[in-house]
Amino acid sequence: MPNYTLKVNGQAHTINVAADTPLLWALRDNLGLVGTKYGCGMGLCGACTVHLNGVPVRSCQTPVSAVGNTPVTTIEGLDPAGAHPLQKAWCDHDVPQCGYCQSGQIMSAAALLKQTPSPTDADIDAAMAGNLCRCGAYPKIERAILHASGQSTE
Ligand code: FES
Ligand code: FES
Repeated sequence: MPNYTLKVNGQAHTINVAADTPLLWALRDNLGLVGTKYGCGMGLCGACTVHLNGVPVRSCQTPVSAVGNTPVTTIEGLDPAGAHPLQKAWCDHDVPQCGYCQSGQIMSAAALLKQTPSPTDADIDAAMAGNLCRCGAYPKIERAILHASGQSTE
């Protein structure tokens, strides 16, 4: 099996895996970054969302061989202290229920706010449409995103 050097959360890691290994499994099994979750494994739920150079991708559908030198950011690397405005808003709004989908939700929301710092409700709906929550935490997720963007003090 070939070696691949992944740049994850600012650090380079060399791993030895098959070319078609999903990035999700490299992160979880090889690097121990288990904040990124396995949901459907089919690109449908968003639980496995990470950033490739700031762009949200489904890591279950991204083979390690396709990552190259592109920087990967996971929930563990979003903010060194876990104090990203979204993470604070998530706590303030008590967003998670079971929590399983939440790292993917936050990664999609973080990419949205980077590109659109003051998103409308429609922007949020469009950006978050691919992140499913079996617990139905959608209203809290939307309020937390608006709060983190400075558009709501609720
Ligand atoms: S686990 Fe990747 S989209 Fe569901
Ligand atoms: S909080 Fe349970 S799936 Fe979203």
